[in-house]
Parts: sequence; C-alpha cells; structure tokens
Amino acid sequence: MRAAALSTAPSPEPSRDCPLCPRLHDFIAGWREREPGWFNAPVPTFLPPEGEESVRLLIVGLAPGVRGANRTGRPFTGDYAGDLLYGTMIAQGLARGEFKARPDDGLELVGTAITNAVRCVPPENKPVGAEISTCRTFLKPTIARFGNLRAILTLGSIAHQSTVRALGGRVATLPFRHGGRHEAAGITLFSSYHCSRYNTNTGVLTEEMFVNVFKEIAAFLKS
Ligand code: URA
Repeated sequence: MRAAALSTAPSPEPSRDCPLCPRLHDFIAGWREREPGWFNAPVPTFLPPEGEESVRLLIVGLAPGVRGANRTGRPFTGDYAGDLLYGTMIAQGLARGEFKARPDDGLELVGTAITNAVRCVPPENKPVGAEISTCRTFLKPTIARFGNLRAILTLGSIAHQSTVRALGGRVATLPFRHGGRHEAAGITLFSSYHCSRYNTNTGVLTEEMFVNVFKEIAAFLKS
C-alpha cells in the first residue's frame, strides 16, 4: 500500500534534462556546449550519509552559481558562499570533515540536508517568478521526504518566500527578515540573509550575524 502511494508521489528530484523552465533549460544547454566537463544540470539535494530519516534541519539556498554548484554538482560547492556556509556548519557540528570546494572532498553533513529553491543555474543568478514557482514542484516533496524534519533555514528572501509557500503559509504573515523565526506546518522556519560574497562584501551580512543564526538553530535542535 505504502509502495503504491510512494510510486505516485511527486519526485523530489528533477530529471537531468528537466524541461519545465525553458529559459533555464536553454541556459544550461549553452553551458554544456561551452564546458562539457561541468555538471550542467539541476543540482540534487545534498544528503547526509545516515540518510533522510536522520535529517532534522533542511537548508534552502537560492540557486546554483554558474561556476559553483552548476560546475561541481553539489549545492554551495565551488563558490564563495560555500566557504562561509560549510565553515560555519562544521563549527556548529552540522557537518564534519574538511570543505575543499570539491564534491569529492569527503565533507559529510550531520543531521542536515541542503537544497536550492531553484535547482538550475539562472542567468545572472536571478530566477524569475515563474521559475521559482515551477521549481516548487521539487521543493515541496523535498521537504516532505524528511520524516523527522524539525527546522528549515532559508538563505535570502527568495528561498524564504518559496519555502513559506511550499509549506502552505502566507508570505504576508510570515515575512522574511534576517534572524527571523516562524512556525509553519509544524516546522520551525529560520531565515538569514544569503551568504553570498555580495552580501558579505557590502556588510549586509557579517560572519558574526551568520554564525549567530546557526548557533540559535544548533541550540534549538538540541532542545
Ligand atoms: N550555491 C548554491 O547551491 N546555492 C546558492 O544559493 C548559492 C550558491
């Protein structure tokens, strides 16, 4: 019975040639021609080795960077945002090993999974509204696959809003703010400014601000 129900459930992972967003599909096709050795496909959710039942925290980013996750195939791997994210996670016990910005660096997540609101790299790092809505087709079942999920951390307002909608909430009543904390569908939703180089270079996000969000989450997960 359960197997039959699962077989009709929407997939949490897009196919490698996902055609749902023509602009993103064409953009990736161009990069496949230019850089055939790169990953150049929707980037799958990064899971801990202990499997999905071990996941208590899901981190939702915006979208793969062209020379980051789109090149390497692992979220936040290969661009600046990953240095800050994984360094902070290791310090808070949410990842172990060493982050060397390569998918074969042996870094392991601990009780945590990482995904993106939009799975394909968008031109200029800017997905349009229709692409964000369409990719919720995968964000919703991604959230649903983790039976022991307690918390979600969204990085940036786009990830936050798409996650609120995926949880059936209203953005007007659950607004984005750095350091925000809401309850939605039985999950505690934390939000932070995105850890992009732009945000840290302009002082919108300091390392201390980012670390403080993770400290609050780590304390919440222990409670
Ligand atoms: N890399 C990702 O995978 N996601 C982001 O949001 C930024 C960089």
